[in-house]
Amino acid sequence: MSEETLTGGNSVGAVRIGDTVRKRALPWTPTVHALLRHLEAAGVDGVPRALGFDEQGREMLTYLPGETAGGRVPWPAWSFTDVLLTQVGHWLRRVHDATAGFVPPADARWFTGRTMEPGLIVGHQDVAPYNAAVLDGDRLVGFFDWDSAFPSTREYDLAVAALWWVPLCPPGVAEGLGFHDTDDRSRRLHLLLDAYGYDGDRQAFGATVVHRTRRQANFFREAAAAGDEAMIAMLPVAGYMEQSAADIEAQPDDFWVR
Ligand SMILES: Nc1ncnc2c1ncn2[C@@H]1O[C@H](COP(=O)(O)OP(=O)(O)O)[C@@H](O)[C@H]1O
Ligand SMILES: [Mg+2]
Repeated sequence: MSEETLTGGNSVGAVRIGDTVRKRALPWTPTVHALLRHLEAAGVDGVPRALGFDEQGREMLTYLPGETAGGRVPWPAWSFTDVLLTQVGHWLRRVHDATAGFVPPADARWFTGRTMEPGLIVGHQDVAPYNAAVLDGDRLVGFFDWDSAFPSTREYDLAVAALWWVPLCPPGVAEGLGFHDTDDRSRRLHLLLDAYGYDGDRQAFGATVVHRTRRQANFFREAAAAGDEAMIAMLPVAGYMEQSAADIEAQPDDFWVR
């Protein structure tokens, strides 16, 4: 069967063969596959199924049908609709509830060094329109690209969803992505949190978004400084993230608490 190169990735690159996707395996891929199998057993949809490894040692996953924002700008219109934002909140809640009980393999390794502990969930950690599959412009199929999943608090993973789907990136960046209604961001933030069923402190959640965004920018910069090619390419994103953190931090209290 022929191989079709899939575009829109930021790092490893993927190809499609029939209904499967193949990607270069990373040191933590076996742990991620254990996670994907756990989600499958828990009946969580919208997650690629792990199919093992092919003869070239590439990981094999099921293909999620649909459109993705990929590397295109502006992003598709669905990236900024209430319908999708709500579905993202529902999907994330199902994933978090199901991963709260995940017991990683004894030799588990994740993209970051964090280990699973009671009270944590395993987040996708990159839930953005460029990792989403959407059908008919209004139906979230799910999210691919689980390479950077790792254990965290619920808020730490929700922060990524808020950053890219509300979106909370700086208005200048959001404009380029196709989001123009800056004044609608607080309402959309609460729509996402309500869809998730978030009952924590929303002011504190704001602080988590700032902290996580800043931390990710630092992570990109450190990895780039160490010579990681993919992270060197991500340096402009690190800049947006620092700008986002400053911008989010400057929001008034009533942005976070209704
Ligand atoms: N399971 C999947 N189902 C559908 N498309 C996929 C799947 N995995 C990857 N893709 C496609 O391949 C592209 C690159 O894959 P991704 O896992 O996002 O790689 P990267 O880590 O490089 O961002 C995605 O933008 C998407 O178009
Ligand atoms: Mg990707």
